[in-house]
Amino acid sequence: MTAAPPSAAYLYERVRRVIPPIEWPAFSDDIDAILALKRERNAVILAHNYQTPEIFHCVADIVGDSLALARRAMEVDADVIVLAGVHFMAETAKLLNPQKTVLIPDLGAGCSLADSITAEDIRLLRQRYPGVPIVTYVNTSAEVKAESDICCTSGNAKAVVESLGVARVIMLPDEYLAQNIAAQTDVEIIAWQGHCEVHERFTPADIRQLREDHPGVSVLAHPECPPEVVAEADFSGSTAAMSDYVGREKPARVVLMTECSMSDNVAVAHPEVDFIRPCDLCPHMKRITLANIRAALEQNRHLVTIDPQVADRARRAVERMLAI
Ligand code: 13P
Ligand code: SF4
Repeated sequence: MTAAPPSAAYLYERVRRVIPPIEWPAFSDDIDAILALKRERNAVILAHNYQTPEIFHCVADIVGDSLALARRAMEVDADVIVLAGVHFMAETAKLLNPQKTVLIPDLGAGCSLADSITAEDIRLLRQRYPGVPIVTYVNTSAEVKAESDICCTSGNAKAVVESLGVARVIMLPDEYLAQNIAAQTDVEIIAWQGHCEVHERFTPADIRQLREDHPGVSVLAHPECPPEVVAEADFSGSTAAMSDYVGREKPARVVLMTECSMSDNVAVAHPEVDFIRPCDLCPHMKRITLANIRAALEQNRHLVTIDPQVADRARRAVERMLAI
């Protein structure tokens, strides 16, 4: 076995269960450089739960689900925010920190949900359903948020929908999230036909096979999965809720029906839990690497900018959500 080099070696202890020692030398230079650059530039790194363990556990300052990243972005006391996640997350951080430099290491880190709807689509929906409030998942562009009444995440969607005190809402763009929330509330939900390219691929047959192959396994599914998948799971919740479930219930064996890095990141904190790992990779999340985080800090790229007129209206929808 190749020993971890001394630089950043203490960090290797955190991830040794999920990163083989032979891979560590490929990471440790960039980790050292990023830690130094963060000090030099007074920068913080916000990382989503789907980031790879060497990012999530070794260079990130704040980690979490989309809701936690938005909440914590408001509290950041730094000059520079690097968002290790996808573009809509970086835009949300910028909306909440208009005076700060917000960087995304790869501008191509998009999202199939964000790509499924435009601001023009929302304006047409308003004409078709006059007076019906529009609840927009944070997985959307700032332009789409600007046309919306309020945002939500998978962690607070039910609370947001019910906070409006109306009988009917439009919830977009994730059709499956809308259907999964509709199953938990009396509020009628009009959905859009956007899907997450990662979660839409899971099927009930996958769950039945997993239960057959791994008797007693607890199955946790993200609410971006189709409703028939959520119906067969033992629990459904945001990435943070799934992580909390593992910590609270300590299942002997668990499978997380979600993006691949999630299991690695949660497994680090729970050596006693056996993680079964069928998973799907999010190609957008995986565009973020240690190398491009380092380049982002060295070269001040890629700056996240939002048209101020769009930003003011989009910020209102995000802040209204955060007030709940
Ligand atoms: P959450 O972390 O809010 O559950 O979102 C999952 C996701 O797919 C983000 O892109
Ligand atoms: Fe978008 Fe799905 Fe990737 Fe999240 S996992 S960024 S929802 S495509």
